[in-house]
Amino acid sequence: MTRLPDLKGPELRARETTLDRELSLYSANRLALDLSRGKPAPAQLDLSHGLEQQLNDNYKSASGIDTRNYGNLRGIDEARDLGGQLLGIPAANVIAGGNSSLFLMHLVTSTAMSQGVWGDDRRWSTTAKVKVLTPVPGYDRHFTLCDALGIGMINVQMNEHGPDMDEVEALVAADPSIKGIWCVPKYSNPTGCVYSNETVERCAKLPAHAAADDFLVFWDNEYGVHDFVYPAETLADILSLSKTAGTQDHIALFASTSKITFSGGGVSFVGGSENFLNAIEKALSVMMVGPDKVNQLRHSRFLAGRLDQHMLRHAEILKPKFDIVDQILQTELAPLGIATWTRPKGGYFVSLDVLPGTAAETVRLAKTTGLTLTPAGATFPGGKDPMDSNIRIAPTFATTEEITTAMEVLVLCVKLTSVRKLLKDQTA
Ligand SMILES: Cc1ncc(COP(=O)(O)O)c(C=O)c1O
Repeated sequence: MTRLPDLKGPELRARETTLDRELSLYSANRLALDLSRGKPAPAQLDLSHGLEQQLNDNYKSASGIDTRNYGNLRGIDEARDLGGQLLGIPAANVIAGGNSSLFLMHLVTSTAMSQGVWGDDRRWSTTAKVKVLTPVPGYDRHFTLCDALGIGMINVQMNEHGPDMDEVEALVAADPSIKGIWCVPKYSNPTGCVYSNETVERCAKLPAHAAADDFLVFWDNEYGVHDFVYPAETLADILSLSKTAGTQDHIALFASTSKITFSGGGVSFVGGSENFLNAIEKALSVMMVGPDKVNQLRHSRFLAGRLDQHMLRHAEILKPKFDIVDQILQTELAPLGIATWTRPKGGYFVSLDVLPGTAAETVRLAKTTGLTLTPAGATFPGGKDPMDSNIRIAPTFATTEEITTAMEVLVLCVKLTSVRKLLKDQTA
């Protein structure tokens, strides 16, 4: 098959006519498809129905805490064990919270801003214009969180093994108003990349290189155990590496069971050094008398000794969905030279890069046929993808049949938009 960029005007126009006709056949079917939802499918939620049987009127934690009552801001021991397992750190370095790690990320960021998390007078609010580094494409809610707190964002390029660390190190060394970096180190949202050992080590050392003495590495390990290709990818232990580097008070780790059990009813975790946890516990104590320990107990009992087995069940549901996405992209787009995409071994997303200047139009065109995609630009701060080329595909929620049709429509939209862009460029 000829690469589309190699075709001349008349050939491109002929392609445009054919593709337009093919797409109109789909449009006539009044589709209602959605590849924008990064959430578990109902079948994945069903894997956790055993949660409800765990309490059986026995609310006592292993150490005898009555989980129905107030108190224990750091959470019950067995929940902290679970958090330690998800984050790959000792339970003593974990606080188990409520149902949202995003809430904990907001708490850490706002505490760094207002009171500081180092038990001294360092706080971000003493800097006029606080900024953080945002590897892109990235997770839109990290950006929304920063926006809400008035924090500026500086984009850095996301590569196959994590952020471009040369760029990151140069930026943080030069500017004391850069106070942090957002990292989704395993099966990153949306590229699915896993940070290499070297990247993790450089991230651990970053606070020592930074011009700011109140630098924080936000280590959002939401997909730490969400493998669907085995043997699973491994991630180096940033907390141990930071101890060696003397930066342990500058690493904030996050995880949750949102995509392990129930997205709306799971348990979240924040991890870090004892100094860091003290600061977070103090901030939490202003907001609550204790977390939902009943749910923590339910989760700990349900997942104790069977987390790997449980994640395997998720993998069995997810792997075929990601396979469909890759197979259709490979068959339909690879020969045409108009797109590249990622092939994650876990997580929730595929990142598709189309010809510069065509992502928004592709998403718009898909919408006209009844296919909803994540808005183009959502993977960049301010919703602005400077190249207008990135599209996030979220195949977890839809059924395999829906994904198949949705991908057929998506590749048609990519082709048609690319042909039109190439024609426009040729006549310009
Ligand atoms: C990277 C990342 N972090 C955090 C979350 C949300 O986590 P939680 O449900 O624990 O707030 C998501 C959800 O999509 C995510 O992709």
